[in-house]
Amino acid sequence: MLNVFTNKAAITGAIAAYKLQKETVGFVPTMGALHQGHLALVKKALLDTSFVVVSIFVNPTQFDNNDDLEKYPRTLDDDVKLLQTLSKNRILVYAPSVFDIYQGKTVADSFNFDGLEFEMEGRFRTGHFDGVGTIVKRFFEIIKPQKAYFGEKDFQQLAIVKKMVQKHAIPVQVIGCPIYREPSGLAMSSRNTRLNPSCKAMAPFVYKTLATVRDNFGTKRVEEMLEWVSSQFAKQDVLKLEYFIIADVETLKPAQEKQETKKYRAFIAVYADDVRLIDNIALN
Ligand code: PAJ
Repeated sequence: MLNVFTNKAAITGAIAAYKLQKETVGFVPTMGALHQGHLALVKKALLDTSFVVVSIFVNPTQFDNNDDLEKYPRTLDDDVKLLQTLSKNRILVYAPSVFDIYQGKTVADSFNFDGLEFEMEGRFRTGHFDGVGTIVKRFFEIIKPQKAYFGEKDFQQLAIVKKMVQKHAIPVQVIGCPIYREPSGLAMSSRNTRLNPSCKAMAPFVYKTLATVRDNFGTKRVEEMLEWVSSQFAKQDVLKLEYFIIADVETLKPAQEKQETKKYRAFIAVYADDVRLIDNIALN
């Protein structure tokens, strides 16, 4: 059975024991309801490091919507079983209580991510990245990993964690991993389990739209592509488009015109009933 640690003292004690043997520590933070996308991060970490801490914690300070927080799937037993299929002795699960992390003061610290926090998810989910910064920084302080793995599924989060590590001089290497998709193209997400049948059937449309934008990126102007995407979403009424933007990957600011020397990505957020889905794709 994998060890599941539910408090700071226990996990730091266990990690210290491994470190005495000069083992390298990999870290994969998650909010649980694990799927193949999460497991891909853990597999990569298992290849690179001698043992891997996987945190499973639904972090209240990064939710701007109480309903979303309450309905977030919590499946710890199944999660541990899935992790066990990857390794029986090189994974430590850290599943703390809210109190263990916040000591009764469940509020986020404030961060300055040089403006990355004001785009996209930061614009539509107030305070979200202060919550993410708070929890990831606390986990880095508790676990002190050499390497930490984050998915490009949350590309803005990955950029923000890299920025935080740089600004706070945290000694960890942050490694980005590609988006893991269903055969339909739908990006895997813990929230997908909450999709009703009609939303589930329509959800792959999000990726199909992104893929078409990528295919046309060389020949179409940014403005044309923005208009095309909103017209595509206007033709159906299952998915509600929250935002679609084409952004410079360095600044995450919306691009008006393409520049030869820059790299771009398309980012999208949609509502399928009350389930919010995000996705993104590299364009050049
Ligand atoms: P969560 O949504 O559980 O995601 C945990 C990690 O898995 C993140 O790095 C995310 O980008 C990655 N991930 C999720 N779906 C993926 C997919 N389809 N392909 C590749 N990677 C995927 O992101 C969070 O939790 C939280 O914000 C957290 C960082 C744990 C802080 O609370």
